[in-house]
Amino acid sequence: MRWPLVVALVLSATPKIAVPVPSTGDALYRTACAYCHGAHGQGGVRRHAPPLWGPHSQLLKGAYDTPNALRQFIQHNMPLEPVNGINPGSLTEPQATSLTKYILHHYHA
Ligand code: HEC
Repeated sequence: MRWPLVVALVLSATPKIAVPVPSTGDALYRTACAYCHGAHGQGGVRRHAPPLWGPHSQLLKGAYDTPNALRQFIQHNMPLEPVNGINPGSLTEPQATSLTKYILHHYHA
């Protein structure tokens, strides 16, 4: 795989107009969270982000063991840095709720 070519293709495919922030939990996750937490919630992709689900996740053993606590944490703190135009603290309550449901559904699958 030749990375400069891939990067050029991705850049040329990027729309020049501002795209709306996705509203479904999985699309939001891919846009704003997978950058650090990984496409499979495995963590460790960037900034030592912890796993959010899977065998190594400590999420439900920590402070965010209720959906509401988790939603609030996400809404106020994530993403940790701007990703794809989504800034820390900019998620709305419905967006954070969608993300919470998306994360938690992996525990009930
Ligand atoms: C720039 C990297 C980065 C991005 C992007 C990011 N996170 Fe995080 N996240 C972290 C780091 C680092 C931590 C651990 C430090 C902390 O808790 O502040 C963390 C912690 C968390 C935790 C707490 C995990 C635990 O076990 O306590 C949750 C939940 C979470 N992130 C969800 C999200 C969601 C949802 C998104 C997308 C909206 C997101 N993160 C985007 C880096 C990131």
